[in-house]
Amino acid sequence: MLSPQSTPYDWCIVGGGIAGLTAARALAQHGQRVVVIEQSVIGHGATAAAGGMLAPLVEARSAEPHTVQFGMEALRFYPEFVAQLQAEAEMNVGYRTEGTLVVAPDRDQAEQLRHLFAEQQRLQLPVEWLSGYELRQIEPYLSPTVVGGIRSQQDHQVDNRLLAVALARAVVRLGGKVIENVGELYPERVGGTWQAEANGVSIKAANILLAEGAAATALRRMLPDIAKHLRPVKGQFLRLDQRELHLIDHVVRTTEVYLVPKNNGQIVVGASAEDRGFDNRNTVGEIFELLRAAWECIPAVRELPILETGVGFRPATSDHLPLLGRTQIEGLAVAAGYYRHGILFAPYAAHLLADHLVQQASNQWIHTFSPERFHEPNRQR
Ligand code: GLY
Repeated sequence: MLSPQSTPYDWCIVGGGIAGLTAARALAQHGQRVVVIEQSVIGHGATAAAGGMLAPLVEARSAEPHTVQFGMEALRFYPEFVAQLQAEAEMNVGYRTEGTLVVAPDRDQAEQLRHLFAEQQRLQLPVEWLSGYELRQIEPYLSPTVVGGIRSQQDHQVDNRLLAVALARAVVRLGGKVIENVGELYPERVGGTWQAEANGVSIKAANILLAEGAAATALRRMLPDIAKHLRPVKGQFLRLDQRELHLIDHVVRTTEVYLVPKNNGQIVVGASAEDRGFDNRNTVGEIFELLRAAWECIPAVRELPILETGVGFRPATSDHLPLLGRTQIEGLAVAAGYYRHGILFAPYAAHLLADHLVQQASNQWIHTFSPERFHEPNRQR
């Protein structure tokens, strides 16, 4: 990557969500001069809509071995990442380690969970099967109908919204710049330098990193053959208020819903998974189904105030793996496509990416997640 001293920035990062902010911070930690430009506001979009679960174990699926393996490495990276970030930003990001319970509110769901548990055992993941009684000893508000479930003490969680605030602060404290409300961007390469107009400011940078969400406007224009492998998967969610009636401390999931308690007394309830393009409306059917499933495992949720309903768009690639690394265009790299795992994946991915971009460090994940895989269909992973 180029680094002519004539440009004010080594890197212009397009996108102020979890992917862009973690990458900007990691590059700044390497002494790179970074500017993050965000279409609307920092942490908006999928980052704000997320549940903040760091849950590779309970999301283990036999069809996605890379996702589980990368997720486990990303999870191991988290405690050190959080400790450093909190020191840099001088704030708490709500990292919680109570763990996750995947519960079965009836015998049909218990049957499905047994399959997941068998898969987890095959992968030798550190999880245990508990009876309904044992689960209610841990979370007393679980329904008496809950027949059993999986406890994963290593599937943690973080406050995704605080994380975005902390990352933006850290970028600035490391000498970087963050510019919001820039609207649509049209980066151009002029004489070996990238240029873009951002909110009336002319940005010049040696390199550009596209870290947009599912809409990926710049990526679609600059690398359409890669961008055509990226699609939005709509997720509807709610936030409930358990400040008066405190129901749960663990992340509680079923096969149909997850409930993620935050330090501020909110519970994130999510999420649908819909192929509906960028339709950003909440619908009665999906919100009803989420609340029905939440009520089925914790009947007292019916007493909780609803604080928020919302929609996010997961950036899904056609193979469900991230887009990470350089592209065939000189000085243009990508960090995107984290699909359902942005909050978990991004810090570790950013760390590997920055090592690769700045120090040419090679890594099997940079190879596996290379955006160039979509140019070379016959390449072996
Ligand atoms: N990782 C949670 C979700 O995508 O809904």
